[in-house]
This record gives sequence, C-alpha cells and structure tokens, in this order.
Amino acid sequence: MSKIVSGFSKLSKEEKIHWLATNYFNSQPEIIETIKQYWNVDEKLQQLHDDFIENTISNFYMPYGVAPNFIINGKEYVIPMVVEESSVVAAASLVAKFWSSRGGFKAEVLSTTKIGQIHFMFQGNTSELQEYFMSKKEDLINATADITKNMEKRGGGILDIQLVDKTDKLSDYYQLHVTFETVDSMGANFINSCLEAMAKEFRKEDIEIVMSILSNYVPECLVRAEVSCKIEELGGENPHKFAEKFCQAVQIAEIEPYRAVTHNKGIMNGIDAVVLATGNDFRAIEAGAHAYASKSGHYKSLTHCDISNGIFRFWIEIPLALGTVGGLTSLHPMAKLSLDMLQKPSARELMMIMATAGLAQNFAALRALTTKGIQHGHMKMHLMNILNQLGANDTDKQKIVDYFEGKTVSHSAVVEKYKEIKK
Ligand code: MEV
Repeated sequence: MSKIVSGFSKLSKEEKIHWLATNYFNSQPEIIETIKQYWNVDEKLQQLHDDFIENTISNFYMPYGVAPNFIINGKEYVIPMVVEESSVVAAASLVAKFWSSRGGFKAEVLSTTKIGQIHFMFQGNTSELQEYFMSKKEDLINATADITKNMEKRGGGILDIQLVDKTDKLSDYYQLHVTFETVDSMGANFINSCLEAMAKEFRKEDIEIVMSILSNYVPECLVRAEVSCKIEELGGENPHKFAEKFCQAVQIAEIEPYRAVTHNKGIMNGIDAVVLATGNDFRAIEAGAHAYASKSGHYKSLTHCDISNGIFRFWIEIPLALGTVGGLTSLHPMAKLSLDMLQKPSARELMMIMATAGLAQNFAALRALTTKGIQHGHMKMHLMNILNQLGANDTDKQKIVDYFEGKTVSHSAVVEKYKEIKK
C-alpha cells in the first residue's frame, strides 16, 4: 500500500510519530520510546526547538565540547565545538596549548563584503539596457530604503550595484551584481529582501527576472589566521625535518586535488564545529570554502606553509560569512551560550576565531600524518568508544588500554579481550 500522505504537516506531533511508527516501523513501541526519549522535559524549550523547522518529531543530540588555551591576537579564548567525530576537540586543544607558548595565533579580517544577484533575461540592445540601468540605479537603492534603514544605522547596507553582461556564456543573460555590508549579521534575509525589492523596481516588459538570491560564494568576506615561530622552537627530536615534511604535506595539498579535499575536510572539522556551536549556517560556510579552494580553476589547499630565514610559517585564508546577531545565534540557547563563552564577539572577531580553529585542526592533522600517522590517536579514542559501548568499568578500561598499547585496535579484538577479562 502506498505511504504517500496528504496533510501530514497539519497532524499533531503525537499523530506524526504514530503515522511514522505505523507506516515505517511495523508499529514497534521501542521506536516511539526512542523518539520521545530525546524530547526535552522543559516543554517551553522543546517548543522552541520544534518551531525551528517543520514536522519536528524529536531532537538529535550532538556532543558539545570545548577547546581551551587558544590565544588569538593576544586574547585568550575557550572555543565551543559541536562535532560527532572523536579526536577533533582533543586535537584543537592540544594544538592551542602548543601555540600558546609560541606567540599564539595571529588573525586578521581582509574583507567583509557579501554578494547578491538578480539574474534576468533581456533580448534587446545592450547599450539601451545599460542606459536603463543607469537611469534606474538610484530608484533601485530607494526601493530598499525600508529594509536598509536599520542596517545603515549599524554601519552596513548596499555598497554597489553593477550591471553584468553574461550573454557570451548564456544568450540574453544579464545580472545585477550587488555588493553588501551586513556588519554583525550573516545577512541572508536582509540581502534577499533587498534583492527582491530591487528586482520589482527593475522589472519592465522586456526584462524577465529569473531569480533574485544572495551568493554563498564570498571571496570578499575573507579572513586570514597564522602561526609562526623559529624552526628550533617547534621542538621534537628533529624540528627541521618536521618543518620540512610538514610543508611538503601542505605543498602536496596545493597541487593534488585528491589530497586537497581531505586536507580541507580536516580544516572544516574545526570550522564546522564552531559554526554549529554558534548557530551559524554550516552549509553556506562549506559551499563558500570549497568554492574558494577552487578559485584558480584547480581545487587546492586552504592552508599554506613557508620556511624561510629559519622561520616556520603556517597560515589559512578562507571566506567566512558569519553572524553574531540574528537568526539562530540569538534564538538557540546553546548558540547564545557559545557566543557568550567567546566573550560576545563581533562577526569579524568570530571570523578570526573560526579561521584559527580550522588552522589548528589542520596543524594537528598534518603533525600526526607526517609523524606517528593518524590512526594512533584515532584508535585510542575508538578504543574508548568501544569500551563505553561494552559498558566497561574504569578498572577494566585501564587494563584494556594498557593491553592495546602498541597493538592494533580493532572492534573484534577489543570485544575478545573484554570477554577474556570478564571470564
Ligand atoms: C579526518 O576527519 C580528517 C583528516 O583526514 C584530515 C587530513 O587528512 O588532513 C585527518
């Protein structure tokens, strides 16, 4: 029997769950129990979460960790991270501590402008269109006055509008390419509202508006974070060899896309975790970051490394369109907590914090990869996860951790060892 349903959104939460259990889980009662187990006991808080999206039936927990010991431009931070992957928070914390005694992280915002576009079709003469655009430019700005009023008070607004001829790529296709400053808000709603108001003003019988939407490609909303020290200060048995291999690993990611994607994925482990913790839009950040990594026409590393005059330098340049006001940042109590933990940063400061988290994560990954290998640390965490799943007590855990020192951890080997101890 078909399970296509009409009016599902109108059902109550209980009814939705019941429908789901009946149609997709053979009415197993455990399913309903699991779904309800994750409801918050505080009904008001649950309602708040229910209302974020549509058809909410429960909550999906993610661990919320903190990475202390970050020093960015001389200021100390503890960074909140929401991530399901083990080792990410540990790696960030370790690297933060490491660099805290080597001058910390230096970060700067390079630019903060965002882009929105009105895409339209026009079959007439380009110079006539240009004339029409020039005659309309002021009206376009005026059409957004109600929307931009508050933003302008905060120092933002529309910076520029350009007519772009794209007819060489697609017949009749033009754009109004609009540049915005949205200060401390991510500005998606602001930008889209401005664009729609402008499109309405711009429309006439021979101009067919296709769509009006912000761009998540924000190469002019750019931040840079860096660490540097004398090579000897890197420590370890052979700091020169370490620095050399580390930089080679970065160079490989600069020329080899298969490696670059994984390299950048590791960077995003750190960045996405802070994006989530602060209630920002991780899909927008991901899309923008990877597009920026491909800006040369080849997908490349977002971090770079240099050794010259005895100094090791490692840095990241990444576009990050973030908000510290509006959206989920003020609605979600945990997002608010994260921003408070970060000492209520401006969007610019948050850009620097996130770039630092990404750089730290990449440093940790490359340090592990070019020395002991990545599995060493991962497997230690993996071992703990397996032991927790098995319900091992602290004494058994210690025995098993000691046993696996220097040995290969696999799920079956851990289970076997656990059974042996429990005999
Ligand atoms: C795993 O989540 C991330 C790494 O693969 C990143 C990297 O290889 O650089 C360790």
